[in-house]
Amino acid sequence: MGRPKITIVGAGNVGATAAHWAAAKEIGDIVLIDIIEGVPQGKALDLYESAPVEGFDCRVVGTNDYRDTAGSDIVVVTAGIARKPGMSRDDLIATNAKIVGGVTDEVMKHSPKCILIIVSNPLDAMVTMAHRRSRLPQNRIVGMAGVLDSARFRTFIAMELDVSVEDVQACVLGGHGDTMVPLPRYSTVAGIPITALMKPGRIEALVRRTRDGGAEIVNYLKTGSAFYAPGASVIQMVEAIVKDKKRVLPCAALLQGEYGERDVFMGVPVKLGAGGVEKVIELDLSPDEKAAFKKSADHVRSLVKVLPA
Ligand code: LAC
Repeated sequence: MGRPKITIVGAGNVGATAAHWAAAKEIGDIVLIDIIEGVPQGKALDLYESAPVEGFDCRVVGTNDYRDTAGSDIVVVTAGIARKPGMSRDDLIATNAKIVGGVTDEVMKHSPKCILIIVSNPLDAMVTMAHRRSRLPQNRIVGMAGVLDSARFRTFIAMELDVSVEDVQACVLGGHGDTMVPLPRYSTVAGIPITALMKPGRIEALVRRTRDGGAEIVNYLKTGSAFYAPGASVIQMVEAIVKDKKRVLPCAALLQGEYGERDVFMGVPVKLGAGGVEKVIELDLSPDEKAAFKKSADHVRSLVKVLPA
């Protein structure tokens, strides 16, 4: 029995950092692929050469040739441009839709049985694009955003209350953008909802910071967007799948009636295991939360409308 084969498309900051987390967790052999010559090869070899120091047994290969990705169990797509200060994720749609469409075609040619995880932005539209092009069943295509958004919310809650991040859980639904829906009622410290631990005004401030979490990093970096937390977040999803952990994580999944929505990819809690998205978990939402979710779905639909065929 061989190791799981994980391909990461895009050797930029997010792709390379995801490869780093995957290697550190020893979850499989890694192929890093990019169209830029030399970069995936250099980063992969450099990472491979850290194996004796860190003690992980994973092959790490960099390439420009999709044949090297053949038979991947999981493919993570990070390819595309990142935003600059003042841009929203939505401003990337035309460029990244072309890139993600082309990448999906190549991936499917060589790894028709893979589980596909999309990271490129605008996330919900890019998963839709990859779904259209790959025609994968809904359990085998998913987007990474909720793990990142809830990790940010968890970080801010832990900072605010001066408690361990390990004891903080958070729930963030909706699209990965300005309409995302952090749910304080379902966000807890050791099981205690934060609504019992913080004043409403402070919760509102942390919710706002979570919504703007991506932009906060872009404004600091100026030349790109976040990569440590996005890389870690997607690898948590990969690990859940390759180890069949059946973790319950917020991810962008295809809704078919859940939450009153159909044929739209949105961030919702899902069970992730060897079968990919094994279940979409439906929460009871209050009228306000429902309205916020609907607004987010409408926004995702408006973006999807402008996707090229
Ligand atoms: C973020 C970008 C990567 O949220 O979407 O940081």
